[in-house]
Amino acid sequence: MAARGGFFLSLLNYKTEKYVIAENRKIGILFRLYQLAVLGYIIGWVFVAKKGYQEKEEAIQTSVFTKLKGVALTNDSNKGLHLWGAEDYVIPPNGEQVFFVVTNYIETPNQRLGFCPESDRVPDGRCTSDDDCEEGETVIAGNGIKTGVCINSTGTCEVHAWCPVEYSPRPQEPLLSAAENFTVYIKNFIRFPNFNFFRSNVLETAEANYLKNCTYDSETHPYCPIFHLGNLVSWTGSDFQEMAVKGGSVGILIEWKCDLDKDYSLCNPQYSFTRLDININNSVTSGYNFRYAKHFKDPKGESFRTLYKVYGIRFDIMVNGQAGKFSIVPTIIALGSGIALLGAGAFACDMILLYMMNTSSFYRERKFEIINFNKDGKDSKAAHRERRSKKSSVEKEASNSITREDETGVAAAESQSSSVERRGPTIPRNTGQRYSALLSPGPDQKLHVSFSPRF
Ligand SMILES: *[C@@H]1O[C@H](CO)[C@@H](O)[C@H](O)[C@H]1NC(C)=O
Repeated sequence: MAARGGFFLSLLNYKTEKYVIAENRKIGILFRLYQLAVLGYIIGWVFVAKKGYQEKEEAIQTSVFTKLKGVALTNDSNKGLHLWGAEDYVIPPNGEQVFFVVTNYIETPNQRLGFCPESDRVPDGRCTSDDDCEEGETVIAGNGIKTGVCINSTGTCEVHAWCPVEYSPRPQEPLLSAAENFTVYIKNFIRFPNFNFFRSNVLETAEANYLKNCTYDSETHPYCPIFHLGNLVSWTGSDFQEMAVKGGSVGILIEWKCDLDKDYSLCNPQYSFTRLDININNSVTSGYNFRYAKHFKDPKGESFRTLYKVYGIRFDIMVNGQAGKFSIVPTIIALGSGIALLGAGAFACDMILLYMMNTSSFYRERKFEIINFNKDGKDSKAAHRERRSKKSSVEKEASNSITREDETGVAAAESQSSSVERRGPTIPRNTGQRYSALLSPGPDQKLHVSFSPRF
């Protein structure tokens, strides 16, 4: 019962560590260098470069509107002049985040439902006799339904379709080459919901006509939201006129990196541009086109249509962003991990000092202090522990016999007076080297261990 009371009383004691100072330049310098490196890392990288004191948010909410401006006049020898406005060449016309600008096209006007030969560019439409054109079958990847007749003059099946079927080849020069000078106005609104922060990419300026006159340029007008299509393509490293022939795809990346500890006006977007269809040189996969038709009715009420196969450039606007604001929790975490790193350095220096140097055994002797009991047993707690170990030492005897011989050897050198000492009850088993500390507390015992080794 008294022992248990002693244990609970000891809970109320404050335990502090005892330090051993090793006067060793090499380890000292190594440890200071390590501390400097860790400090540099925490201050320079974690706090300054990575802003580790900030709470970050990457879940950006965003909305993009686009509007194109510009007109183009095409002059086709067969169909005459045709004026293209934004409502004609932008598909879809409602100003989305992804838009397509027509740069080249094949027009097949005045198609009516009827019977006509299939195009000879469709393999399944070719024939040598009527047997090749089974009635009622659709032409695979073709324009209509076979009627069972092979037309000898074209070598293709007759089909029930919108006639005549598309026959012109793709123009070698883009018909809407003027699209290079079109402009697109990109409005982008963003919000960081956690910080309740709103922003738009349209520069807030006192100058009323600024938006009417500017075009984006990374040097002169980095915050003007109006882009010249020719420049957009050339910034990706491609040529607009070349890309306009078969079409392609361009990515516009808007990146927001906002430090909300700083002023609102410093949160501005960065634009970058890439070409997204990468197989530029592969003639089979390159390009972008699709077909659509405009339907009309003649005075008799019969419908006819104009078919367009359009080639063009598709623009994909991608928005991403990150905002950061000071917060105490990440600051504490960053500091805590820094302190833990400092501790790792002390551990590494200990390992070098105690195990990897010529003089390591000396330091080990001084660092690991092993206490044996004096016979008179002034310390009642020690005496208590001694009693317990007497009991258990009998059981331990077999397994520990070798170590015990060691210990008794050392102990015997110090003093041969007692059997209690020979049992060496409190020697910690986990220390590297055992050092029997039956030193009599005398004037020459210094706590400050001073040692100047010669390496
Ligand atoms: C675009 O505009 C510039 C200057 O106004 C002009 O020199 C150029 O020929 C135009 N490009 C096209 C393809 O029309």
